[in-house]
Amino acid sequence: MRVVSGIQTTGNLHLGNYLGAIKNWVAMQDQGECLFFLADLHALTGTVSPQELANSTIEMAATLLAAGIDDRSILFNQARVPAHAELCWILNGTARMGWLSRMTQWKDKAGKNREGASVALFDYPVLQAADVLVYKATHVPVGEDQRQHLELARDIATKFNLDFNVDLFPLPDALISKAAPRIMSLRDGSAKMSKSDPSDLSRVNLSDDDDTIAAKFRKAKSDPDVLPDSFDALEGRPEAKNLVTIFAALSDREPQSVVEEFAGKGFGALKPALADLAISVLGPIRDRLVRMHNDRAHVGAELAKGAAKAQTLAAPTLRAAQEAVGLQV
Ligand code: TRP
Repeated sequence: MRVVSGIQTTGNLHLGNYLGAIKNWVAMQDQGECLFFLADLHALTGTVSPQELANSTIEMAATLLAAGIDDRSILFNQARVPAHAELCWILNGTARMGWLSRMTQWKDKAGKNREGASVALFDYPVLQAADVLVYKATHVPVGEDQRQHLELARDIATKFNLDFNVDLFPLPDALISKAAPRIMSLRDGSAKMSKSDPSDLSRVNLSDDDDTIAAKFRKAKSDPDVLPDSFDALEGRPEAKNLVTIFAALSDREPQSVVEEFAGKGFGALKPALADLAISVLGPIRDRLVRMHNDRAHVGAELAKGAAKAQTLAAPTLRAAQEAVGLQV
């Protein structure tokens, strides 16, 4: 089992980011050989702020290290392993315009302004295919929204193998994690927790200190009712549902078991317990993150180490792809 996955770099990481990809990656490390990277090349598909890209890459890497990505896996930034971009170019000869035109993410992001969209935005899924195929990934943990891109990677691999009569690329399977719940704003249960929400009370930042975490859960929007004895009965109570979902995700429990524990009790009981739980999980991560903020060189060195290992694994596949298409390199 070879696991490969990438994550878009963003700054100001919060609880939603942690319970999404990050926690899942940390857990994957026990299940196979893992390569995890920061998709900094993919960031060039949109408007680029060089300072922000550079900062968010380091911040994301620091957060992943603080959260527990360790020597069991290979962590690097995509731009540092040129094989990704090189294989992408080769696969650009295999991918079809029609396939890419049907990608929902392209249609959503380009909107009505296709003429004004970058070529990179259109090509985004081919780079993503190269990301996984260059390591002959067998499993790719992603969110539901990336399922279509993984299907495309399989189509590209199949056509390449067929066109050049090789058995080079195995077809990667998407691992769509059910364990990654949608975490909503603490102030509005119908909006996703987001770094761009103007209210800082709407999210728990991974940099928040213990008192701030506790205060944010204390002030979180809830409702005056007690908790029912079934999770399904929380339908129509988005804030209550969100708090239970967060509790469950942080404690690796089923939401149903959390509801049962608090059945008949109000948020006066759930909120302090949730705050304590959040502090116990996020506190140590924040402390490590703070230490790393003072040591950017350490983060850079970790990325360099990961990139060297990744390049070694990618080289034979890239070489084989070059040979397959007749490149004399
Ligand atoms: N497109 C992915 C996302 O937005 C990030 C990504 C880039 C990725 N390359 C990848 C995920 C390769 C898995 C494998 O989340």
